[in-house]
Amino acid sequence: MSTPQAPKNLLAQLDGLNAQQLRRLLVEHLTKQKLGLYWEASAIERDAALNADMPLPRLVQEWSHRPNDMAADAPHRNLIIEGDNFDSLRLLRSTHAGRVRVIYIDPPYNTGNKDWVYNDHYVGANDRWRHSMWLEFLYRRLTLARDLLTPDGVILVSINDENRARLELLMDEVFPGRRVGSFVWRSRTGGNDTKGAFHSTNHEHVLIYANEGFEFTGSGRDEDQYGNPDNDQRGAWINDNLVKAHNAKERPEAYYSILNPETDTWYLCDPDSVWRFSSTSRPLKKKLQADPIETIIQEKRILWPTNEETAIYATEQELLKAIKAGVAPKQLRIYLQLKNLAALAEKDPKVNRLLSYIEPLQNWVGRKIGYGKPRYKRFRRNLLRDVTPLSSWMQPAAEGALDDEDADDVITLTVGNTSEGTALVKKIIGNKDFPYPKPFSLIYSLLAQATKPNDIVLDFFAGSATTGQAVLELNAEDGGQRRFILCSSTEATVKEPEKNLCRDLCAERMRRVMQGYGNKPGYSVAQGGEFAYLQLEKIQAADAYFEASPALAFQWLALHRLGVALPHSDAPIQRLGRVDDCELLVCHEVTDDVIEQLAAWPAQSGAARLAVYCLRPDTLREQLAARGVQANTYGLVETLLRAQAGVAA
Ligand SMILES: C[S@@+](CC[C@H](N)C(=O)[O-])C[C@H]1O[C@@H](n2cnc3c(N)ncnc32)[C@H](O)[C@@H]1O
Repeated sequence: MSTPQAPKNLLAQLDGLNAQQLRRLLVEHLTKQKLGLYWEASAIERDAALNADMPLPRLVQEWSHRPNDMAADAPHRNLIIEGDNFDSLRLLRSTHAGRVRVIYIDPPYNTGNKDWVYNDHYVGANDRWRHSMWLEFLYRRLTLARDLLTPDGVILVSINDENRARLELLMDEVFPGRRVGSFVWRSRTGGNDTKGAFHSTNHEHVLIYANEGFEFTGSGRDEDQYGNPDNDQRGAWINDNLVKAHNAKERPEAYYSILNPETDTWYLCDPDSVWRFSSTSRPLKKKLQADPIETIIQEKRILWPTNEETAIYATEQELLKAIKAGVAPKQLRIYLQLKNLAALAEKDPKVNRLLSYIEPLQNWVGRKIGYGKPRYKRFRRNLLRDVTPLSSWMQPAAEGALDDEDADDVITLTVGNTSEGTALVKKIIGNKDFPYPKPFSLIYSLLAQATKPNDIVLDFFAGSATTGQAVLELNAEDGGQRRFILCSSTEATVKEPEKNLCRDLCAERMRRVMQGYGNKPGYSVAQGGEFAYLQLEKIQAADAYFEASPALAFQWLALHRLGVALPHSDAPIQRLGRVDDCELLVCHEVTDDVIEQLAAWPAQSGAARLAVYCLRPDTLREQLAARGVQANTYGLVETLLRAQAGVAA
């Protein structure tokens, strides 16, 4: 058997490696046989890319959004970072490691339509290494992103059906043992395929991977509301609504009457809002997750009205008269609608079934009928089962809520389709050139389930900034303080060198959303209505002493120490902020005047301690100590370099 010939350029590459690199290559080759996904990639190239240089942030004030009601020295809590997200993530790894709770991304899907760039060229359908390059492109970014997550952090990734399997294996590799599951999203309503066996490929996936502490928010999970005033052995409960927002025509099987066995009082179903539980007296389409009403009554989980008015009618005429006069329990008014229902029944099988469930009026003669509305005990111990989302489908908004007996006991995320995203971008920005923005309702629903009110939310393929808008809306709804970090490329090319998608779409959309568009009001600063626009400057580590300009170093420290961006001035002492009782300061020159100002700082600011970043930390510490001021001093450039190398600074 002959040995395959190595391509010339491969040999040339090997010649360029030193002995240590060759050994590493060999070890990798011998040990990398494994089960799972394999793609062509070079670990040496990967390391070189990671450590090639150091991305530092530059605040672009004129492209940031600083509304008038924002104090002049107030920090920016939201960030938009322009540039290749590999660099943005490298920056964030040095500033936000372990701080981001939720990442949502919608990466290029590797469709072959030249929708993403690898090593400075758009990758098309005929690229021989297309799939490997795509996997490596994502692998490099996902491994960086992984380090940003909090111990209960989660990453949600959109992907089309074609590339789902490859991406899922890649996610398994990057987040071993962390798979939570996936949602299926129906992205289109009509057919769109002209080829292939399917009439239409109209769904996508959202893959979910999370660290151990993660849980979905669920709904109504404010556990403080639960109490146990009657010392129920089953634990804490809340007094919850026994009816739901569907009428009897929509849910005929949920139209039935219930009897309080202790008082012998009947409660009819309200035709405008039927019971939320099913009854074994009705045919069921499928096995229920929730208990039927008979079990709930038997287990004494119903909260029957107490001290309430009841009525007993001696004859059918008396009953009918009371219904017509509006003095009978109002649920009985369905008997005035029988003719209308009969007319509808011919066309609507549901109405037909409803008619068959309505008892003859005479059945109510002689029965005690209650005017009140029974409620029920919802136990905290059932909370998780009741309120976490179903993974199977995100329900298309056009189809309304899930139509089955369990609908109120599970959460289906109700979202729109792709056209919703395009229409919204057009409404806000006025053009629809941006291909396939995600619908607002998709990202909003995901974040409503995944985020808590104080989370940092990152999207490093932000595109038109749908994620940022969803963050603001969630804050407005629950008074939260979520922050966003959006990373976007400029999409500038040789043909279009001036193109800046990050500035002109991502940031511009956020600006307009914050100011209000159409009839929609804007968002206050407290709700997150501001952002810093950051560009990246890459400097060589070896040149850091010369090139890490005061403004770059200051901005990096603001992100690193406080997670915010701050306007920078030329003052010799720059204040970053305060952590506990410690003032954080940056000095670029240590002159006599600066030392005097620093010596007076604790007394003037009321802070107990100073932490000062400067170029000559030892000298400054000694000088301040000589004036009786204890300060922690840090080397500015050393701090940058250590953080870049992943060492806690
Ligand atoms: C599918 S779109 C995301 C759309 C977004 N979810 C929305 O709702 O508008 C993917 C985006 O990733 C951007 N992108 C591709 N490669 C990138 C890179 N290396 N760095 C930053 N952004 C990149 C593209 O410019 C595109 O805007």
